Amino acid sequence: MQYKARSIDPAAAALGAQAPELALVVPTLNERGNIELFLELVESVLEGITWEVIFVDDDSRDGTAEAVRRIALRDPRVRCLQRIGRRGLSTACIEGVLASAAPFVAIMDADLQHDERLLPRMLETLKHEPYDVVVGSRYVAGGGLGQWDRGRAQISGLATRLSRIVCKTDIADPMSGFFMMRRGVFEDAMRHLSGHGFKILLDLLASSPRPVQLKELPYEFRRRRHGESKLDTLVAWEFGMLLADKLVGHLVPVRFALFAFIGLIGLGVHLLVLRSALAVPELSFAVAQGIATVVAMTSNFFLNNVFTYRDQRLKGWRLLRGLVSFYLICSVGAVGNVGIAAYIFAVDNVWWLAGIAGAVVGSVWNYAVSAVFTWRRR
Ligand code: GDD
Ligand code: MN
Repeated sequence: MQYKARSIDPAAAALGAQAPELALVVPTLNERGNIELFLELVESVLEGITWEVIFVDDDSRDGTAEAVRRIALRDPRVRCLQRIGRRGLSTACIEGVLASAAPFVAIMDADLQHDERLLPRMLETLKHEPYDVVVGSRYVAGGGLGQWDRGRAQISGLATRLSRIVCKTDIADPMSGFFMMRRGVFEDAMRHLSGHGFKILLDLLASSPRPVQLKELPYEFRRRRHGESKLDTLVAWEFGMLLADKLVGHLVPVRFALFAFIGLIGLGVHLLVLRSALAVPELSFAVAQGIATVVAMTSNFFLNNVFTYRDQRLKGWRLLRGLVSFYLICSVGAVGNVGIAAYIFAVDNVWWLAGIAGAVVGSVWNYAVSAVFTWRRR
């Protein structure tokens, strides 16, 4: 059977005849209303440059991917990488870069908040000066936050200061989502990237095996035209996870550290409830201990659901199912904990060593098994 393309404009072939020198990787989530204008603006500033745009769409429900593919039939410089059942700005950017062969790659939002007029200068800089990355910066002279209210500006300022701790490079705006890089810097870092959350530049700078040579160009953050921002508490949580991963992730997985920390809180809850229950004369010790155990397990479950597994939080009917599975898993963990501790105590008679060993084995079990059964990825 002969392959027949669906209505391709003959003029389109000429546009895509040359390998692109510059790729724009543009993550999208419900940005249909911005795509046309985005491409118009980009085309107008990139004259004389061979370029391509890869929109990485996480299965937007507003038809963003379809809109991009419609344009791609007329313009082979435009492509859509659609991901199903996935979410995440950083991983979207990573996969977009990997889908291109261009020697220079820019990451840019679809919502027209980043100033496309910076693109030619970014490319010139990379071609003629010894930099690896050129960042569109809101925090150098001439740049700005546009019309952000004071609250958001303050939060952004705080997050920026925190970010600088994990960056190996001196940078004014590590939270910027607008930058261009040489392909090589990305390839050197790509196997170390954490991929958590919203901040791909920060991830790149913190994960690069060598300090990145970087230049910042000022720009003024613009107002969103269509659609809405995806910034929410989940994004804030992911930001915290990224920072923690870059600070201590090489020692212990961040999720496990959170889980273990919540386990410690659970111990406090347990002792408090036990003391209160023992104050009731009708309750025997065993009953009081039983009540304290159930309360502590329950509070651990809900704390883990909100903090450790915020990105796959259980709700409604799944919440109930998760709670029951968590009770079962922790009960087995408790039996293992006591068994191991008793065994070690019998062997070496050091009470605290036996106690710690039992607790460690119990929490590793609880963590590993609940990760698979309670908060399994759908
Ligand atoms: N594929 C994909 N998956 N795209 C996403 C996702 C996702 O889960 N979440 C957001 N996006 C896309 C949006 O469609 C948009 O094109 C871009 O990523 C940025 O999202 P916004 O929701 O517009 O972010 P913002 O305006 O709050 O944040 C901006 O400011 C930060 C600086 O503080 C962004 O420019 C960030 O990149 C920037 O770091
Ligand atoms: Mn935006």
